[in-house]
Amino acid sequence: LLQRHARRPARGTLGYGVAAGLPALRAAIARHVGAARGVVCTPDQVIVVAGAQAGLDLVCRLLLDPGDAAWIEEPGYLGARGALLGAGADLVPVRVDADGLDVAAGAARAPNARLVYTTPSHQFPLGVTMTLPRRLALLDWAAHAGAWVVEDDYDSEYRYAGRPLPAMQGLDAGGRVVYLGTFSKTMFPALRAGWVVVPKPLAEPFAVAIRNTGHGVPAVVQAALADFIDEGHFAAHVRRMRGLYAKRQAVLVASAQRHLQGRLVVEPADAGMQIAARLSGRSDDRALSAALDEAGVVAPPLSAYALGRAPVRGLFLGYAGVPEREIAAAVQTLGRVLARRA
Ligand SMILES: Cc1ncc(COP(=O)(O)O)c(C=O)c1O
Repeated sequence: LLQRHARRPARGTLGYGVAAGLPALRAAIARHVGAARGVVCTPDQVIVVAGAQAGLDLVCRLLLDPGDAAWIEEPGYLGARGALLGAGADLVPVRVDADGLDVAAGAARAPNARLVYTTPSHQFPLGVTMTLPRRLALLDWAAHAGAWVVEDDYDSEYRYAGRPLPAMQGLDAGGRVVYLGTFSKTMFPALRAGWVVVPKPLAEPFAVAIRNTGHGVPAVVQAALADFIDEGHFAAHVRRMRGLYAKRQAVLVASAQRHLQGRLVVEPADAGMQIAARLSGRSDDRALSAALDEAGVVAPPLSAYALGRAPVRGLFLGYAGVPEREIAAAVQTLGRVLARRA
């Protein structure tokens, strides 16, 4: 498809085009997020950006003034922290429990926050799904506070078990949710393509703003992606990958049960591409991660995602991009390193 559009570009493909995105791709994304995630939007609310990170940067710059308070999940996504800091936000870490972001704790700490960054479908990095009552509480609080809720739905196409909750955006009657998605997980990060779905009144300001930022995705890539979705390849690819990743996750969990003697708790995850594996007590996950790195296994420490004192210690185990054989071998290495340290 890339070759098709590069060899015989449509007239508009070689020009500046529409800064907010190729109309065919905006329409395809609107259909995809509507069908797969219950997002309610028209194509003009979809802004095509160079990955969710570019979307975060745009959102923070447009919706915040320097010094504004913003809630972020604790522990949480470092890319969001960076974008918020770049916009001069005053970061307010808000704890995550088994129900997701603790809205009451956030409201008590920073009732006047202008923005909340959250990953409700599959909390990064802990993997919790935000419950419906929490979602409703967050939307209610945001409507009263006049705050924006940035819903980062980065990997929700991969759900293996449990009831999939549709995106919070679809529940938002007050127009407070800005929804982020990406092709980095479903396709591959080097595409640098993602989207922001904004409330209707923000569609025009975002379309104007993106013209002035230089963020954007090459039109040939956008045209190929639009065809890839419209011709059904995208849905088929995600379906195939979901099966493959479920198998890889099962190998990870089974190998961990065999080789780790409970030293690290690796439980099946309902969604996503990684497992947040927990260590007991106050174990030094950074030292463990460094030792693993030396042994050739990449497993970031969970404490690296906390702004304050790490609420959870453990390792972030990505399995989606690793063949089954290599997963089993890596878990054996992990078992050896854990046994040595014990
Ligand atoms: C929580 C979260 N959001 C967004 C992204 C994707 O960002 P991008 O689309 O810029 O690759 C990632 C990638 O790792 C992520 O973990």
